[in-house]
Amino acid sequence: MKHFINIKDIPYKMLRKILSDAKKRKKKRNKLSTLEIDKDQPLKGSLLIQMFEKSSLRTRLSFYLAIRQLGGSALTLRPDELHLSKGGESLADTAKILSTYGNIFMLRTDDENKLAQFKKHLSIPLINGLSPLSHPAQILSDVFTIEEISKKNISKLNICWIGDSNNVLNSLIEASIKFSFNLNIGSPKKYKPSKTIIDWIKKNKGKVKIFDNPKIAIKNADILLTDKVISMNDKVNRKNKIKDFSNFKINSKLMSLSKNAFILHCLPRGNEISDDVFYSKKSVVWQQALNRIYVQKSILLYCLEKLR
Ligand code: CP
Ligand code: NVA
Repeated sequence: MKHFINIKDIPYKMLRKILSDAKKRKKKRNKLSTLEIDKDQPLKGSLLIQMFEKSSLRTRLSFYLAIRQLGGSALTLRPDELHLSKGGESLADTAKILSTYGNIFMLRTDDENKLAQFKKHLSIPLINGLSPLSHPAQILSDVFTIEEISKKNISKLNICWIGDSNNVLNSLIEASIKFSFNLNIGSPKKYKPSKTIIDWIKKNKGKVKIFDNPKIAIKNADILLTDKVISMNDKVNRKNKIKDFSNFKINSKLMSLSKNAFILHCLPRGNEISDDVFYSKKSVVWQQALNRIYVQKSILLYCLEKLR
């Protein structure tokens, strides 16, 4: 079995295998409706247990549909329904029970340490469905969408991120090293990636550049990604942070400085993108959200070592 916790821990070959499996499976479903099961039913009889300690719309639905389309079932837990959240049961015992009943556990957590703890105590694969420091399923799916819309290998593209240095960006940085693409980051000085991350990029000879001027960061971009200024885990003065980002809003004026870039947003969105850009022809946000299903199907298969 394999865990899917961070992109940096997964060999490039396996990431590619996940993406090519997703492409094949997506193509084959051309005429199937949402809940029809893939012909080969590779996860028939398997149960995905998913738990959300933070809000979710897309991750919850896309993982549900992913396992269903593979022939399995999903059970979604709310932490407040478990003894664990009230201190009435240990994480180790909870993990043992999850492993007894289920085949895969997907966790969206507000505590990075919980991923390590569950990994230690589970005997089934663990999938990270967003943590304070990463959102790997989102970004692997975004790599899929970028290659789908551009019809190019991502290593040939200039990717630009305008926004906060958050969990989604961390996973994007990891992807930039694995898939070897150019990544420009435009963030106010105060919000640039941490020293640990910058050191990691240097150590891995990443093609990542950091700018505090969004107009320079976006130059030559083929693809633009952004996310909310305030993340679920942010314990900041909201008003001040939003003000700090006022020059980083993605509007048509800023977009005109790119190479007519496609725009992606993991959603939900806030005030960081103007409506005209969000609803423009260059915005692929709905396709991006839908693709979560296809890539996560292949992530589930990877975890259970059933990728063809
Ligand atoms: N992009 C994303 O993960 O959305 P949700 O928070 O709705 O799951
Ligand atoms: N950075 C955002 C992503 C939401 C999918 C958050 O953590 O809230």
